[in-house]
Amino acid sequence: MQCIIFSPTNTTRTIVRHIASTLADEPATIIDLTLPEKREPLSGKGPVIIGMPVYGGRIPALAAQRLRVLGPGQGRPAIVVVVYGNRAFDDALLELRDLALELGFIPVAGAAFVGEHSFSTPTHPIGAGRPDQEDLSKAQEMGRAVGQNLAQYPDLSTWPKLEVPGNFPYREGVAPAPIAPETLAENCVLCGECALVCPTQCITITQSSVETDKNNCLRCCACVRVCAYEARVLLEPKMVEFAHNLHKKFQRRAEPEVFL
Ligand SMILES: Cc1cc2nc3c(=O)[nH]c(=O)nc-3n(C[C@H](O)[C@H](O)[C@H](O)COP(=O)(O)O)c2cc1C
Repeated sequence: MQCIIFSPTNTTRTIVRHIASTLADEPATIIDLTLPEKREPLSGKGPVIIGMPVYGGRIPALAAQRLRVLGPGQGRPAIVVVVYGNRAFDDALLELRDLALELGFIPVAGAAFVGEHSFSTPTHPIGAGRPDQEDLSKAQEMGRAVGQNLAQYPDLSTWPKLEVPGNFPYREGVAPAPIAPETLAENCVLCGECALVCPTQCITITQSSVETDKNNCLRCCACVRVCAYEARVLLEPKMVEFAHNLHKKFQRRAEPEVFL
């Protein structure tokens, strides 16, 4: 089966892989929309899982744009999954369901799972360690349930419209701002790993420094997570304050929600 994901810090990837592992017998193929590479148009038959993170209560605009380019769903059943950082998923799952419908998929199941927040740090953790074993078991349970439903009711034309929470018009999402993680020159060895994982390729490695085009940064923090030298950090004061507030306000454990 095919899984289409956008996952800068890999929590969505982990959840989607676990759902796929019990949904179908054959191994999953991952179509990864995270990096700006050239991709073959979507082809094949059978169910697809579409997984995206929640950014500002929405799906990331770049991920939606890359999914549109991938091509039409051709009536294939889609399992739509969003992963959020222990705050809330707001309108993201509804938006992903609507996008799947618009592209010609038939949404047959949906879910919102929890992953460690991109802005989580060791001193101010937010959803740290998620998804954990409990989450992964729920993902596998969901895969089994969807697989059984699809086997039992193969005629997709009789499936009721998938209902998921959320409001339309969707909330505003992440406001564009020239904010990006910075590089601590004293820690940086110019290895270039940060540039390799950047979904927008807004990082350039020069002879002596790392340059970031702040206007193009998603603040996904893939560069922060991948850096083995702790040289990439989000230091912008408003972002730091925002992350500290999330840490304070969202200590409770949000549970995954599955819609079949
Ligand atoms: C710009 C941005 C906005 C985010 N907005 C939300 C949000 O509205 N609610 C939430 O709970 N988590 C939010 N998160 C956290 C991510 O949804 C969460 O870390 C998710 O697990 C990331 O997925 P990934 O590991 O597949 O990249 C946001 C993260 C980023 C980078």
